[in-house]
Amino acid sequence: MNEFVAAASLPARCSWVALSSHRDDRGALVAIEGEADAPFSIRRVYFLHGTAPDAERGFHAHRELTQLAVCVAGSCLMLLDDGEIRSIVRLHGADRGLVIGSMVWREMREFSDDCVLLVLASEHYAEADYIRDHARFLEAVTESRQ
Ligand code: TYD
Repeated sequence: MNEFVAAASLPARCSWVALSSHRDDRGALVAIEGEADAPFSIRRVYFLHGTAPDAERGFHAHRELTQLAVCVAGSCLMLLDDGEIRSIVRLHGADRGLVIGSMVWREMREFSDDCVLLVLASEHYAEADYIRDHARFLEAVTESRQ
């Protein structure tokens, strides 16, 4: 499994964002600003924690939503699929975020015991924005390219 997948091989609409850490003898502080570090205005924040090591999450794409995921503690694997390119990346370290754009299928697994995955989102929660069937995702992403 690749520890790091270079930006060039990430699926479409996905990219890494470097986050500045303000580090001093007290520790580190990382700030994330909307329309600056996150390439959208932030309307929702959620985080995953206490995830069972054998749990698998995600298995969906979003029609419109863009998100920025930062693993602020521990690590997990994320599979990203734009219908053509499938990449598996390891999220770890609070100094780097992963932008996941619309119409990208994602699956998450191999959460470490201490994993805290912070996600900033461009929209409020809306079940109607989800595509939870991979075959339907492939149809929709193909249609969106035409
Ligand atoms: P789910 O979509 O299953 O999470 P994942 O894609 O990570 O596997 O969401 C779990 C539950 O949390 C489900 O009942 C919906 C709810 N939820 C919210 O209420 N707000 C949110 O912003 C998110 C992401 C989920």
